[in-house]
Amino acid sequence: MSTANLIILGAGEDQVPAYVEGRRLGYRIIGVDQKPDALGASLADEFLCLTTREPEAIARRLGAIDVAAVISPASDAAQASVAALSRHYGTAFQPAPDAVRASEDKGYFLSVVEKLGLPRYRSVHDSDPDALARAAAGLRYPLVVKPADASGSKGLRCVTDPADLPGAISTARKHSFSGEIVVEEFVSGTHYSVECFARDGRPELTIVTERTLTPMPHMISVSHLVPASLSCAVRARLQDMVTAVLAELGHRNGPVNLDVIAGEDEKLYFVELGARLGGNGMPRLAAHAYGVNTVAAAIRLAAGRPPELTTHAEPRVVMLRILTADTEGVVTGIAGADAVRALPDVAALELFKEPGQRVHPYTQAAHKLGYLIVAADTRESLQRTLDTALTTLCIDIEPDQTPQEITS
Ligand SMILES: Nc1ncnc2c1ncn2[C@@H]1O[C@H](COP(=O)(O)OP(=O)(O)O)[C@@H](O)[C@H]1O
Ligand SMILES: [Mg+2]
Repeated sequence: MSTANLIILGAGEDQVPAYVEGRRLGYRIIGVDQKPDALGASLADEFLCLTTREPEAIARRLGAIDVAAVISPASDAAQASVAALSRHYGTAFQPAPDAVRASEDKGYFLSVVEKLGLPRYRSVHDSDPDALARAAAGLRYPLVVKPADASGSKGLRCVTDPADLPGAISTARKHSFSGEIVVEEFVSGTHYSVECFARDGRPELTIVTERTLTPMPHMISVSHLVPASLSCAVRARLQDMVTAVLAELGHRNGPVNLDVIAGEDEKLYFVELGARLGGNGMPRLAAHAYGVNTVAAAIRLAAGRPPELTTHAEPRVVMLRILTADTEGVVTGIAGADAVRALPDVAALELFKEPGQRVHPYTQAAHKLGYLIVAADTRESLQRTLDTALTTLCIDIEPDQTPQEITS
């Protein structure tokens, strides 16, 4: 009998664990990414250098083969293709259409939140920039302007001055495939992310992380910490809200990741949802903190096998810190990585760049350089290890010359 095929859409750092787990589970891996040098490309048995957004082209290239499962961790943009290819190959798991739509259209997701009567900030969405600017006139500043269908903070801006609104709309438009833009009121509060795995319509696994972000205007995730300090009552409320959203979307089984803000009014505001495994290293954090392999669970579910979601009872305090650059340039050397890995509380250090490669300032999540995971007994000792690790690790970057330097 030939080995069953697993199609993985995307081959970036947040899809790489699926290549590793898929192989461990015995699948033949077909990877797809438009970047020929994507991190996971060399881990695939067969690699298609194609955009993940065109399922017909992917199916045409693959021809009449048997496919056991299709997945795309961390990518909202690929979920419509996951659904189309799952249908085409008749795989065991078929994504719920409304869950796919909510993943790729933030405006639609917010309308679902509204329909359910859950806390909701004011927002408007449109594909016509002038109509959008007019509609936004009734909203209270600061505003968050974002493409309805992008992720990783691409094209997202926080606007405090009405004069900057048209520019922010035009930036968002450049990053939107559908052309649809959302303008929202800014919610002040504490940011969380919820990594959940549904079984038979219930969130069987719910991991809540405390999130830190880069400052305005980009607001990109910098770290996730578990366990989040939330009361049992707030956790229960969040769990009920997630259950209601899953039911409304018909997402009865599988991973789902949500961004949540606990507002100053103590209400919980959902910001967005992706009916797939979370990005920013979320499955790595889940594995280190709770001993659960959500990547294997997602692959097994997609192939019609029962997922295994048992967790450790009590985690230590665990943080996933995203490593970033603050300048445009080229990596000239990396030192201290082994010393960081040898620190007692460092659980993992992964670097995605090597000398000679180009790096960019952290203006979107895709520009990350690596993940550092620290597990400690207390928040204080975690912070000490984090500080030591960040000063020990030296990623030398030769910055690009500015035009002034070139002429002087
Ligand atoms: N209306 C808002 N008020 C406050 N913060 C927001 C708002 N919208 C987004 N953010 C913050 O910015 C982050 C990125 O926005 P999000 O809609 O999740 O876009 P992306 O798909 O790029 O992750 C959110 O996770 C949240 O922390
Ligand atoms: Mg988000």
